[in-house]
Amino acid sequence: MSNRTLIRGGLLLTAADETHADVLVEDGRVAALAAHGSAAAGSWTADRTIDATGRYVIPGGVDAHTHMELPFGGTFASDTFETGTRAAAWGGTTTIVDFAVQARGGSLREGLDAWYAKADGKCAVDYGFHMILSDVDESSLKEMDLLVEEGVTSFKLFMAYPGVFYSDDGRILRAMQRGAGNGGLIMMHAENGIAIDVLVEQALARGETDPRHHGEVRKVLLEAEATHRAIQLARVAGAPLYVVHVSAEEAVAELAAARDRGLPVFGETCPQYLFLSTDNLAEPGFEGAKYVCSTPLRPREHQAALWRGLVTDDLQVVSTDHCPFCFSGQKDLGRGDFSKIPNGLPGVENRMDLLHQAVVDGRISRRRWIDIACAAPARMFGLYPKKGTIAPGGDADIVVYDPRAEHVLSAETHHMNVDYSAYEGKRITGRVETVLSRGEVIVDRGEFTGRAGHGAYTPRSTCQYVN
Ligand code: URP
Ligand code: ZN
Ligand code: ZN
Ligand code: ZN
Repeated sequence: MSNRTLIRGGLLLTAADETHADVLVEDGRVAALAAHGSAAAGSWTADRTIDATGRYVIPGGVDAHTHMELPFGGTFASDTFETGTRAAAWGGTTTIVDFAVQARGGSLREGLDAWYAKADGKCAVDYGFHMILSDVDESSLKEMDLLVEEGVTSFKLFMAYPGVFYSDDGRILRAMQRGAGNGGLIMMHAENGIAIDVLVEQALARGETDPRHHGEVRKVLLEAEATHRAIQLARVAGAPLYVVHVSAEEAVAELAAARDRGLPVFGETCPQYLFLSTDNLAEPGFEGAKYVCSTPLRPREHQAALWRGLVTDDLQVVSTDHCPFCFSGQKDLGRGDFSKIPNGLPGVENRMDLLHQAVVDGRISRRRWIDIACAAPARMFGLYPKKGTIAPGGDADIVVYDPRAEHVLSAETHHMNVDYSAYEGKRITGRVETVLSRGEVIVDRGEFTGRAGHGAYTPRSTCQYVN
């Protein structure tokens, strides 16, 4: 006997449509949609009916940028695949794409296998991997082809972090050329890390050791310059480009200019750049360390350009770059030297709510919310329409969202394995009520009903905006 669930009476939202439609789920997939009250919907029988009256019925979120258990700065991101994907589920995100890391001197295969092993049997929601290239050479270039074939179709390169993840322009160009040939999408951390390291050294020599100096040395101009350079290298290679964690107005301008030329250049920003600023980095004592990430938080004036970019489609995706480090014991590593504060912020649980708040505040439309949080990341990384929408044949990754419920973001109540919230005290209108992952209810009105190991590894096709 098949397993059928009916979601009835809600407003079905996708990036394309808003309809009062009922959803029939069968054996983990969306079986059919029909107008609420129609004869077709009335004839459906199910084992379980979820009443979505007064609620939105939306696709599960796709967070295309997370770092569970990432080794960084002598420690590890504090969310494991188990705790991080459970928190994702609580926040209405049903797919993550995390980053496997090639060790310096190691192969892509070794790095990817290590990440498969970390995640295997642990995840509450479905997951895929990008690959971080930290050593571009003949053999890793060849391996890129194999990874694309096995469903790891995107590769992150770093213009920052010399001596760690950094690649020089020649290596970047070669990786882009390879991606142009095999369909792999190059994701760029665009900051001029060589220049930043000089400024870090000079700041520390002047005794400028507080967290706020992290924001001052990682200059807007050095993000804009790297973004510009990455775009030119991609043009030379004939490759598409996806710039991650865009934070500065001037970087958005580079993307917009490239897109105006018709180039296949894409951009992602993150909730921290939309809602937080250098004011947070300057919080007294060592509090600013909670907000140290790269690219850094910017002066509040930059936020308007990011919101505008999301409206004009010069930015396509909002992912979290979820990379939590506890304030106590991890961020602490940088007391007296901001350059030793592990970089990264928690947020995988908060993204859908924060972006819904932007709908409530009139910054984006409901459908744009679903686009930037679900559909566009799924298309960008080859998961659509299995993920990112609600359509017959697709996975039944569905969130019943109450657009009127109010709650307050806090470390007291969140489920991420980190001892602070970057959004402590922020009031949100809208709340996740029920979450289905491939038809299974994994969050049920304030109760987690999922399990570690339900989440399945999900191979991806190539970028659906260019291929
Ligand atoms: O500060 C950040 N973003 N940490 C994670 C690593 C990265 O560069 O994405
Ligand atoms: Zn990065
Ligand atoms: Zn330019
Ligand atoms: Zn990242």
